[in-house]
Amino acid sequence: MPSTAIIGLQWGDEGKGKVIDCLAAEADLVVRYAGGNNAGHTVVVDGEKYVLHLIPGGILHDHALNLIGRGVVVNLEHLAQEVDGLLSRGVPVLDRLRLDSRCHLIFPFHLHLDRLAETWKGEGRIGTTGRGIGPAYADRVARTGIRLGDVLNEKHFETRLQAALAEKNAMISKVYGQEPESHDRLFEESRALARRFQPLVVDGGEWVREQYGQGKKVLFEGAQGSMLDLDAGTYPFVTSSWTGTWGIAGGTGMPPKHLDRALGVAKAYCTRVGEGPMLTELLDATGERLRKQGNEYGATTGRPRRCGWFDAVAARYAVELNGLDGLVLSNLDVLSGFEEIRVAVAYRWEDRETRSFPVEVGSDPAWEPVWKTFPGWQEDITGARSFSELPSTTQDYLRFLEAELHVPIQRVSVGPSRDQMFVGENGQQDLWA
Ligand code: GDP
Ligand code: IMO
Ligand code: MG
Repeated sequence: MPSTAIIGLQWGDEGKGKVIDCLAAEADLVVRYAGGNNAGHTVVVDGEKYVLHLIPGGILHDHALNLIGRGVVVNLEHLAQEVDGLLSRGVPVLDRLRLDSRCHLIFPFHLHLDRLAETWKGEGRIGTTGRGIGPAYADRVARTGIRLGDVLNEKHFETRLQAALAEKNAMISKVYGQEPESHDRLFEESRALARRFQPLVVDGGEWVREQYGQGKKVLFEGAQGSMLDLDAGTYPFVTSSWTGTWGIAGGTGMPPKHLDRALGVAKAYCTRVGEGPMLTELLDATGERLRKQGNEYGATTGRPRRCGWFDAVAARYAVELNGLDGLVLSNLDVLSGFEEIRVAVAYRWEDRETRSFPVEVGSDPAWEPVWKTFPGWQEDITGARSFSELPSTTQDYLRFLEAELHVPIQRVSVGPSRDQMFVGENGQQDLWA
């Protein structure tokens, strides 16, 4: 099986960074296909913590190459900071990284407009990361975006930037009453940054197809989560990209038929950052305890994450949508010490009950979870290295989730480090087989 995708199953921050780093140990190529530096993927190696925002999670391995695919929106200034941060820690990033020339760029006016739009929306705000993601994707669709390859062509860039700035500055000054942005500084800074990265720029699609054709192992790195997907998620409280397996072909240039396996990462409970529905959210001491035990603060913005019990309705929906072959269940250790554990198995609204994820969940908050309750476990399981070492109540919880979601749990994660992960009861040893 030479290609595998790792997808977030919930509202992001499921532990994709850790899982990708672990699987990258055997991959030749790790490819990001969506999102931008709204993502924050944490990898812990020998006790050292790295938070990757744009750079794919194979970067800490010396054998793997990493591609930022064409579906990723790239803030060059941020990329430079992230690259420099890794270089200063001794990671030879420039030898291991490639950038697709078709990537759309995020400029300062995108950040500005993201924040202005959020303020404008007031109570109706999405709670974005403020990184300019939505405005940059909007420009891509409106055909007013500027791609990395465009910046490398001086004349072409000049024309595109003039046109973009004229429109954006009119919006910034005339709609929002703010100071317009300077063309010359932006032009010079973008050119300098693009030239710095020019040696890494490739036709990403051609490159991935070629590598795959040679039998290389390709790992597709999902960002955000299925419930934050532009179309499948809790619209309008979503991000602006296709986060699931359906985004891979569009975001890389790899034909869909060459995706051989897809695994979803889910926490053993739920978290969400930003606004929007989350039916299992706990606004009480139990939610606070989950946040504390799971250290649930955003890797990108530091915002406290909203916490709640596992939502099997949303997870089933995401398993089906993505066509998943298996699951990686993370943060299981965080559930230790609870008297009881709950899972939402259906939603109820007056006399209606559903096991399917309702379209109106974004607009109608009247749905309530139907709970199934399990006894908790008191043991610390961070030292467990196999399914059989888990307490029997923990094993029952995993068996229930497998049956409820109709997929095998391929891996169980009981802590942030590489070694704190083992094969699930019905998982297979070699995920590349
Ligand atoms: P991502 O965006 O999906 O890559 O996830 P984040 O890095 O934003 O958030 C996941 C957090 O959980 C990070 O702090 C990880 O170091 C941590 N983490 C990952 N797996 C586990 C686990 O199994 N147990 C615990 N306690 N923490 C984990
Ligand atoms: P990773 O890859 C969690 C959320 C934001 C906000 C919404 C829209 O680390 O899992 P945006 O800035 O994308 O326009 O914000 O999406 N969001 C994430 N939440 N993890 C992420 O990425 C996220 N990326 C975006 O909080 O609610
Ligand atoms: Mg994250």
